Amino acid sequence: MYKYRYEVTASKLSGCVDISGSKNAVLPILAATLINKSVSYVDNCPSLSDLDVAIDILKTYGCAVEKTGKSIMVDATKATYVSVPKQLASKCRASLAFLGSSVARFGMAEFTLPGGCVLGPRPIDMHVDVMRLLGLEVMGLDRITVQGKVIDTNILLPYPSVGVTENIMMIAAANNCSVRIKNAAKEPEIVNLAVYLSALGADIKGAGTGTIVIKGHSLTPRNVRICVIPDRIEAATYLIAGAVSGSNVTVRKCLPGHMSKLLTLLYNMGCNIDVGKDYVRLVQGRLDKKLKPPLFIEAKPYPCFPTDMQPPTVAMLSVITSKKNPTVVTDTVFPGRFALCTELMKMGADIHMLKGGCMLEGLRFDAPVPSKELISHDLRAGAALIVASLCCDEGAVCHIYDNGFIERGYENISEKFSQIGGKVSLKLIQ
Ligand code: UD1
Repeated sequence: MYKYRYEVTASKLSGCVDISGSKNAVLPILAATLINKSVSYVDNCPSLSDLDVAIDILKTYGCAVEKTGKSIMVDATKATYVSVPKQLASKCRASLAFLGSSVARFGMAEFTLPGGCVLGPRPIDMHVDVMRLLGLEVMGLDRITVQGKVIDTNILLPYPSVGVTENIMMIAAANNCSVRIKNAAKEPEIVNLAVYLSALGADIKGAGTGTIVIKGHSLTPRNVRICVIPDRIEAATYLIAGAVSGSNVTVRKCLPGHMSKLLTLLYNMGCNIDVGKDYVRLVQGRLDKKLKPPLFIEAKPYPCFPTDMQPPTVAMLSVITSKKNPTVVTDTVFPGRFALCTELMKMGADIHMLKGGCMLEGLRFDAPVPSKELISHDLRAGAALIVASLCCDEGAVCHIYDNGFIERGYENISEKFSQIGGKVSLKLIQ
């Protein structure tokens, strides 16, 4: 029934881990390479199954794609219009980015509802609404087609959606139009995409702020090279594991400025942190003095506490909270993203479910023998269970059953944890 089983033996961590390129940055950039009627080189690409899906989609458009180490070369010179096959689109949510790049390149797109992690309802209404605001005609319900001429417009997003902001940027950049996005998403991944589009000759101002102004024009084909930013969520996962297991863990090749909310949290909990230009060193977590959990954490759009860091943080808090010092965690981005709690409760955590959140009160002492057979419900929840399992009583072994979620977003997670002393092994069981 499950594809993989991770066997995790609780162990003390210590050492250095290098952070890979960001999944959420590289996927829209790969989609955007379709716009360039020439060759794009994308450096610092992580090796993830979601990228394989993006590469397969590029190939269906007729792009030549070559992977050499961490670089991916995409030659979109001979790309032609296609409708992305349903079985590919449904494999990952980021396939929606091809909606933007296909309209940018061919003036049209056809797509089905994308796949990805089940984090509660993930509608595409905003994507459809902004297409109409851009002057495009949108037809269909299950299979949606978009085409038409892009007009000058000001768009006020009802919510700073990452994917919607990226699609508008791609479409506006390559058409003769002037588009202003208000309440745009401010994530570092938006800035990385803007850097790539600017390298193609696009005129984009304000990426990383709430107002982005794009003066679009047809882009001249050119050979370009872009470097993908480090994955702030991956870095956060290893830091959290280090903090809760009371270890000296250094994450290298990361950008600490992209993780300021997490670093503030760890610091205020009592962790000793040394922050450099491209590394964060955690000098012991829980052993020397008990960590103090916060009263409240709310996941919100960047620069607030990220929803993708919420599950590993909940795993950490399930261990360090207590009846006397509980923490309430809510998620305004994906209020249903708490499936992890069921598994943590199986492990003995005392968690009370709330509407759009949970209250953590440490470990139950009256619990029957806690279960060590766990289920990974989505990408971040799966990684969070590895973190929780590593922090059990030394020597305890947990099994995490996973359907390929974790490999969608974490490059070599078993090897990387092993590098810092975490005993994590992966078995194909299907
Ligand atoms: C991206 C990230 C994902 C992260 C999320 C929020 C990628 C590939 N994925 O996802 O890891 O968790 O940002 O930081 O970059 N919404 C609508 N209608 C829409 C679109 C979105 O209601 O048409 C809602 C979503 O259901 C969600 C919220 O808006 O509640 C934020 O979603 P969005 O920012 O669009 O996330 P993604 O781009 O899908």
